[in-house]
Amino acid sequence: MSVSRQGAPLLLALAFACNTGKDGADDTDSDAPAVAVDQCSESYSVPGAFGETSTQGIQADEATFGSAQSVGSTSVGPDPSQVHLGWPGANTSNSISFVWNTDVGTLASQVKWGEGSALDHTSKGVSFSFGGKDGTDYRVHELKLCGRLKPGTTYSYQVGGEGHWSDTFQFTTPAAPGTFDTFTVAIAGDSRGAYETWGNVIAKMESHDPDFYLFSGDMVDLGANQAEWLAWWNAAGSTFASKVIVPAHGNHEILSSNYFAQFSLPNNEQWFTIDFGNATVASLNDTVATAEDITVAQADFLTSKFGASTADWKIAMHHRTEYSICDGHGSAEDVRDAWAPVFDAQHVDLVFAGHNHIYERSKVIKADAEVAAGEGTTYFVSGGAGADLYTDTIPEWFNAQTATVEHYMIAEFGPTSVTITVRDLSDNVLDTVTLPR
Ligand SMILES: [Fe+2]
Repeated sequence: MSVSRQGAPLLLALAFACNTGKDGADDTDSDAPAVAVDQCSESYSVPGAFGETSTQGIQADEATFGSAQSVGSTSVGPDPSQVHLGWPGANTSNSISFVWNTDVGTLASQVKWGEGSALDHTSKGVSFSFGGKDGTDYRVHELKLCGRLKPGTTYSYQVGGEGHWSDTFQFTTPAAPGTFDTFTVAIAGDSRGAYETWGNVIAKMESHDPDFYLFSGDMVDLGANQAEWLAWWNAAGSTFASKVIVPAHGNHEILSSNYFAQFSLPNNEQWFTIDFGNATVASLNDTVATAEDITVAQADFLTSKFGASTADWKIAMHHRTEYSICDGHGSAEDVRDAWAPVFDAQHVDLVFAGHNHIYERSKVIKADAEVAAGEGTTYFVSGGAGADLYTDTIPEWFNAQTATVEHYMIAEFGPTSVTITVRDLSDNVLDTVTLPR
């Protein structure tokens, strides 16, 4: 949940600015570091979509709790569920978001948090009710702490309210961007209805202890189906209560309120950047309200953000790949035409996508031709987190590696290179490649 989106006639931007950051009387910040707040805003909104006009931001009422509510085959209640973190600003070292679900009647949106094992701050967030396509209202809660955390520090937290606190979770902020160059990222895409497989993918990724996770879209079959979102988070257990997963919007998310409610992201939540270590990562949306959101708005955004970035690694993630030999959807030439020239001009190293339910690695490409390693962009397709696999391929000059099995990717960044290893769910290595920066 973030600021209202722009230029989207299909969506009703029902924004509610609830400045709740420095809120409770016991929410003291005397120990907060004097750091810049980069893109992070302690205001809240969820765009309404496809007639789902019940989006509302409601200030926390810590004394109001509801009762159990069925959501498809599962349920939510006053005890927080699907607790997870987000990065609400580009600076991953000093800001965090907490997001969780309850029944629609519960209005308590508090977070107790502190350094180490302390829970000596209490902050009030907000909550949103929004209607799904089945006419049922749901509630999701969110609190952002913008620029209020110390880099390289472990924090504990609980969410909920008195009598209904969640378990205590911990997370550790990374050191400030630009101050370290060794870290691990897990990457997957296209779980889409197969939540048992998605749970297996998460367990495999977690075994490599990644610093954070990327997901290139199509989490669910239908973005407006809240039951699917609960299943998607439930498959993760508490994994994303301690580590952040950064999404890209896929075509199956259909710009739904449910999608924007589940994630706390920078900028307009459709396209944004984060800075981690010596990398700038752009997450983009290629299923948009108007074509100009791809050809103009995001092309300009990429030029601006990557142009201003001093990071050693420039990475992009979105859903519909520029280069694919998969017969399922092939290459998204509209995206390639709009963004590949920007990736060339801005020296983008890696692009992660999905949409085709397959694994693919491209050759190193610049100006739509193969170039030497370090001279261009490598495009990955990772659509193997559960959705039915596509197996038919058509040979093309740009393909370097293909595998038609469920899989996940681990990218280990070092001072001068990244090693990307792709494994199936039995830990067989499908591909490994080391690329210079
Ligand atoms: Fe897709």
